Amino acid sequence: MTPAQNPRVIVTKTVLWFLVGVAAVVAVVRFARGLGVTTALTDANPWGMWVGFDVMGGVALAAGGFVLAATVYIFRREHYHVIIRPAILTAFLGYLAVIIGLMVDLGRPWNIWRPMLYWNLHSPLFEVAMCVMLYTTVLALEFAPVVLERFAWAVPIIRLLRRLTLPLVIVGIALSTLHQSSLGTLFLLSGARMHPLWFSPLLPLLFLVSAVGLGLGMVTVESLVTSWLYRREPEWALLRGLTRAATVVLSLYLVVRLGDLVARGELGRAFDGSWFAALFWVEMSMSTLAPIALFLRAAKDTWATRARVPGQGSRPEAGSGPGKDDGHWAITWGAFLMTAGFVLHRADVGGISHIAVTGQVYVPAPTEVAVSLGIVSGLALIFLFFVENLKVWEEPPPATDHFTPAAMDPVSSQYIGSPWLGEGQRAALAVICGVVIGIALVEAQVESRRRSAARPIHPPRSAAVEVTPRAEGRGHRFEIVSPTVPAAMTEAVAGGGRLQDALLIDSGGEGRLVLFPHVAHQRRLGGEASCASCHHRNVPLDRATSCSRCHRDMYRWTDTFDHRRHVTAHGQSLSCAVCHQDRAAARSRAGSKACASCHQEAPPHLTRVRATHEAEPGLAPGYVKAMHGLCLGCHREEESEVAVADRYLSRCTTCHRNEFASDLEMRRRPPFAVVATTSNAPEDAGEARDGGGTTGGSP
Ligand code: HEC
Ligand code: HEC
Ligand code: HEC
Ligand code: HEC
Ligand code: HEC
Ligand code: HEC
Repeated sequence: MTPAQNPRVIVTKTVLWFLVGVAAVVAVVRFARGLGVTTALTDANPWGMWVGFDVMGGVALAAGGFVLAATVYIFRREHYHVIIRPAILTAFLGYLAVIIGLMVDLGRPWNIWRPMLYWNLHSPLFEVAMCVMLYTTVLALEFAPVVLERFAWAVPIIRLLRRLTLPLVIVGIALSTLHQSSLGTLFLLSGARMHPLWFSPLLPLLFLVSAVGLGLGMVTVESLVTSWLYRREPEWALLRGLTRAATVVLSLYLVVRLGDLVARGELGRAFDGSWFAALFWVEMSMSTLAPIALFLRAAKDTWATRARVPGQGSRPEAGSGPGKDDGHWAITWGAFLMTAGFVLHRADVGGISHIAVTGQVYVPAPTEVAVSLGIVSGLALIFLFFVENLKVWEEPPPATDHFTPAAMDPVSSQYIGSPWLGEGQRAALAVICGVVIGIALVEAQVESRRRSAARPIHPPRSAAVEVTPRAEGRGHRFEIVSPTVPAAMTEAVAGGGRLQDALLIDSGGEGRLVLFPHVAHQRRLGGEASCASCHHRNVPLDRATSCSRCHRDMYRWTDTFDHRRHVTAHGQSLSCAVCHQDRAAARSRAGSKACASCHQEAPPHLTRVRATHEAEPGLAPGYVKAMHGLCLGCHREEESEVAVADRYLSRCTTCHRNEFASDLEMRRRPPFAVVATTSNAPEDAGEARDGGGTTGGSP
């Protein structure tokens, strides 16, 4: 069965191409517009998923390369030679993930020559940079023969590289171990930010030991996944050997990790019932405890099988027959859990455990997740390409997708043959879909950033508007008349009964006005007595406090309580006892005099404001919530009886008068126009008099 006919490969590759498409868009935007619009990073949390997952995880996943190289070339376990090429390829791609991840995160790849020239020997980051560059080169050289095999002219180079294998392997192992542990060293620097369950002076050692375990796990996972993908039997015998070694390494890790916690007297924190204790146990179970149990179980199953099948050698052949459970499930689960568990460990050290100290919760933005997935997908595609086209395996999978375009028959000018979507088209289609989704993701991210940014409120303005009934349907047309209109003129128009006082709410200060016929609403709700139906909470000695004094931000909740101001208002040092009546009680919001006792709240039967959230006293929701809560609520209520087609009051455009182009759009009539309506004077008569007064009533 060719991969072209193998739905597993087709679906997997299509999904991978799709993810690459999404990531490509985000990466482009990241370079064009910066981290702000593409990530959830902040100054307090500058290292996010791209470091915690791509860099930390990439390095860790690449550990399989040096572990297997050591096994085969140093310890001379030649039968593992079968899987060394995929392992080295995985390591190489893992390091590419690190490099790409760093490029996207740091954003200035063209500066990479600097550490090469200017050596800062005191910087762990310098060590990291050099190790990554050198080890990637070594891995490339180790893998190069596989690529060069295809070219006749490259024979001498291959021969040279073959001769260099051992030195390369030794350099590679040295660099890799150095780098695995130096990543741990790097986090010694941020010890003050880390939860004590993860911070340890032994981090370099822990990173190194876990990298060996992870390397073994990753080679197993990679082998299992590709075997599933190409429907071949995994090399169970080898995998079993790897897991046996992993059991030893994991046990060592467990001893060091727990021993370190005990020695530092921090083990108690693992049982303090906090989220971090739970995280610790999840991580430990996934990375160490469960895999050890599963691998031991697998070993037991093997012995049992071997006992049942007499005469089998010490190395059972791969897949000793279908239907027999040789603990394959245990190996599979163990390897996957272990790999995921250690990637989680890296993420914990790299960022998640910092939350305990900084209190800054960081949740990666969807765009960040997309880039991380895209990097992994791109590298997976390279892996599959190499597997299909080079001799990565002893026995490569059958030839790839053959694209046979339908032939054009010149006589009937028709295409002959079935229309057939080749691999190239599938990939292009998937990438295009990905790009579209990527653009949508970035847009959503920009919008949510805009919403989460502080947007202080501008107070409303008042203006005179001229109101005329709309020719079509219900409602009115409003035209802003400058408040600078001479009083005589206002009267003349008001004599026609059409001039009204209204509030112009433009809290964003961006010229998107909401027109609010304040007086008309008061009149409808009972005139002078109406105030409390909307002004639900006031400052003492104020009948109707402007909403914007408390609802201070467009979208965010804000704390309205200002301690200093209250102390001043109540006579400085004499004031304390007014609120902190119980001298023994803690000076907290709950313990002091209730806000409502001074700030009279509107009686429930009068007010139209209904809180939909339970919050600490004094916390006020965003301005939009307050406005929509009041205005939209009533307008919808008013119309709940009206037929759907006739809805008018609850339409966005009824209030948002110049945000949407429509016949409802509010006009700003220059003052001269007033002159025109009142005295039939020529239109441009007023222009010279008040050319600047067209701003719609700004004071
Ligand atoms: C108590 C219910 C109620 C509340 C609260 C309320 N409105 Fe109204 N609104 C009405 C009613 C009723 C009308 C009149 C409809 C008519 O004249 O046919 C109206 C009319 C309007 C109109 C004029 C529409 C037109 O074309 O004539 C605007 C603009 C408006 N409201 C905006 C607002 C805004 C902004 C808020 C919030 C600050 C708000 N309203 C709060 C009930 C309410
Ligand atoms: C239908 C609801 C409603 C009613 C009834 C109402 N108001 Fe208002 N009032 C508002 C809204 C909405 C604003 C503007 C939003 C803001 O202040 O940020 C406002 C603003 C104000 C302002 C501040 C205007 C400015 O320029 O800053 C005053 C003063 C005021 N109202 C007084 C009153 C008085 C007095 C009454 C009773 C006679 C009353 N309001 C009745 C909703 C109402
Ligand atoms: C003195 C401060 C203050 C003023 C002035 C004020 N509010 Fe509020 N408002 C609050 C607080 C605090 C809450 C939080 C809910 C609560 O505890 O009632 C709130 C809640 C609300 C809610 C409920 C929101 C929800 O979904 O839970 C609405 C609607 C609202 N205000 C509208 C208004 C309007 C309209 C005005 C002006 C006419 C106004 N508020 C003036 C402090 C104020
Ligand atoms: C208007 C009522 C009021 C008055 C007057 C007042 N306090 Fe407070 N005080 C509070 C409230 C409410 C809190 C809770 C603040 C919070 O949750 O942010 C508080 C908190 C505190 C705290 C806790 C520290 C903090 O910032 O959280 C101290 C200390 C304190 N007040 C001291 C004083 C002293 C001293 C005076 C007199 C000079 C005084 N307060 C006057 C209401 C008042
Ligand atoms: C002892 C009476 C008293 C208590 C209790 C009290 N306040 Fe006030 N508050 C006042 C007075 C008086 C003012 C007017 C201050 C001024 O005009 O400068 C005021 C002003 C305010 C303002 C308007 C200040 C501004 O910046 O515009 C807000 C908002 C406010 N208080 C919120 C609260 C909250 C929230 C609480 C409860 C945690 C509270 N107050 C408790 C008396 C009180
Ligand atoms: C009854 C009046 C009313 C209706 C109807 C209404 N809004 Fe609003 N809306 C307001 C008011 C008042 C504000 C606050 C004014 C401001 O921010 O300038 C606001 C603010 C907003 C904002 C924030 C504005 C900004 O500058 O960021 C958005 C977005 C919004 N409304 C969307 C809508 C949508 C969508 C609809 C239709 C489903 C709608 N509104 C219907 C009254 C209304």
